[in-house]
Amino acid sequence: MTATRTLNADADGVAEAARILRRGGLVAFPTETVYGLGANALSADAVAAIFTAKGRPADDPLIVHVPSAERVNGVATVSLLAELLAQRFWPGPLTLVLPKLAHVPDVVSAGLLTVAVRVPAHPVARALLKAAELPLAAPSANLFGRTSPTRAEHVLDDLGGRIDAIVDGGPSLLGVESTIVDVSGAQPRLLRPGGVPAEDIEATLRLKLLPPHATGRPMAPGMLPSHYAPRTPLVLVTGDAVAAQQRLAAEVQKAVATGQRVGVLLLEDDRALLGPAVTEQVGTYAQPSQSAARLFEALRTLDRGTCDVLYARELADPTSGLGRALADRLRRAAQRVIEV
Ligand code: TXA
Ligand code: MG
Repeated sequence: MTATRTLNADADGVAEAARILRRGGLVAFPTETVYGLGANALSADAVAAIFTAKGRPADDPLIVHVPSAERVNGVATVSLLAELLAQRFWPGPLTLVLPKLAHVPDVVSAGLLTVAVRVPAHPVARALLKAAELPLAAPSANLFGRTSPTRAEHVLDDLGGRIDAIVDGGPSLLGVESTIVDVSGAQPRLLRPGGVPAEDIEATLRLKLLPPHATGRPMAPGMLPSHYAPRTPLVLVTGDAVAAQQRLAAEVQKAVATGQRVGVLLLEDDRALLGPAVTEQVGTYAQPSQSAARLFEALRTLDRGTCDVLYARELADPTSGLGRALADRLRRAAQRVIEV
């Protein structure tokens, strides 16, 4: 056990966090997507401690965070496609998978010849990267298998006593993780939908991204379906939005009638439809940014053991924009999917 210190997101807090990181310690910090658990990416021992603290399997590679696109040159080989994307989307919620330079320890990339890199936009993350003068390996700051943290409290719930410090920068504004694109091969591939819409990336590159997992085998446990599962079973209703809304209401009514304690991830659109259930409200179907910001927190709250079963329908159009990331996270969280 380590006493986990909570540091303010001011100059003193950031300077102390940087000192801890330079000594090889673990510090959670806010980014615009979710909180990350940072360590010196160039120290194999410091990075190994991330895996221990999270209970993360060693074959799940980490994202390296750097303060600017130029600094990527210190950890990876940058291609022409990567430069186009970097110019357009960094700093921001885009992660690029690139050929790894040899001095980056293998533990960072789980033995792969590539490394994932991102320049975060959050001012506290940027200040910390500058103060530490180190590339920071940082996965989401949750215990393995739990939802990503969007508040300091979530990090402390999962990792309190297991890490040296957390910089509390308030809630993460975006709420879903970065979009991951592999630009290390001949054709760019979308590995994870996220904060940057895949359509925007395709428009910038003027080509289609290959879909995730065309090769069958997932690249990493982070892409396994069960990765985000809450402990309380979640049922996801998907398909035509109007039909899904009606089916959701019917399923919830049925479950309540059988005496189950029911939790619902509730769109504003559905407020009038749903009766006596525990609800966590997100945004509207047409405007997914509010739902993205609330999703992980809402799932954590619903998963505190007061419900027997959770229900949700698709929170936005699952085929475009942020809706794709939301659909991806809900599918990973769901134990059962009802197609209408
Ligand atoms: O928004 C985010 O990306 C957040 C913040 C903290 O930056 N980080 C995050 O990290 O979501 P994490 O560890 O939870 O997810 C990283 C995922 C891995 O699970 C893996 O799927 C993929 O990135 N990844 C990392 N390195 C890779 C590589 N070399 N090749 C393919 N996939 C890789
Ligand atoms: Mg994660």
